[in-house]
Amino acid sequence: MAARPNRRWRRTGSLSLSNSRCRVAILISGSGSNLQAFIDQLADGRLDLDIVVVLSNNPDAYGLQRAAAANIASVCIQHAAFDDRESFDRAMAAALDEQNVDLLILAGFMRILSPWFVKRYDGRILNIHPALLPAYPGLNTHQRVLDAGDAWHGSTVHFVTEELDGGPLVLQGRLPVRTDQNAKDLAARVQTIEHQIYPDAARLFAEGELRFHNGKAMLNGAILDEPLRRDFE
Ligand code: GRF
Repeated sequence: MAARPNRRWRRTGSLSLSNSRCRVAILISGSGSNLQAFIDQLADGRLDLDIVVVLSNNPDAYGLQRAAAANIASVCIQHAAFDDRESFDRAMAAALDEQNVDLLILAGFMRILSPWFVKRYDGRILNIHPALLPAYPGLNTHQRVLDAGDAWHGSTVHFVTEELDGGPLVLQGRLPVRTDQNAKDLAARVQTIEHQIYPDAARLFAEGELRFHNGKAMLNGAILDEPLRRDFE
């Protein structure tokens, strides 16, 4: 019988190989509903990883309360206390490295990362963006989609590179735009998609199927030219 492939997390590069569960940090600035989706899937046994720390730049982020309720360690580092972006990022890295973090999940983290930080965690940072990238990078995506009269909208999980919202795409969930809806309604529908596709993307990474190599997203060793796509109602 063929040996079952090891689908567990493996460290690459100069770091040693490890068969332990993927150690995940979730970075937030606000509500943390995506964080909650991870917490819920962990509680249900649908996710096989460890959230070792929740990091916020905002002491009032509701997500910090979600972390506390789930007994997950959290740390708050306020960006305003630092002279420049990289100093803040170095303080974040010090906190993350204390936890031996394998994967960083940006979940509504409203700070642009410095090139130093992106390089430090090269290929180990995922973000979710509320649009069908490469369309609509940046803010106010829902209103921009409505203003343009687009038929489809959605959300995208992608690897983080130095280009804002520009890293290789991994997984996209899309839904038809309803003309009777405003931006708030649309945002709520998009978020329900996010709560499904983001844990799914993290699962692929934690199981060693998803990787970043030479600037590309790789799935089971093959370049992912197009993101995985899923349609929702
Ligand atoms: C999400 O809609 C995500 O697409 C964007 O920020 C929002 C975070 O929401 N990057 P929450 O804090 O997870 O509720």
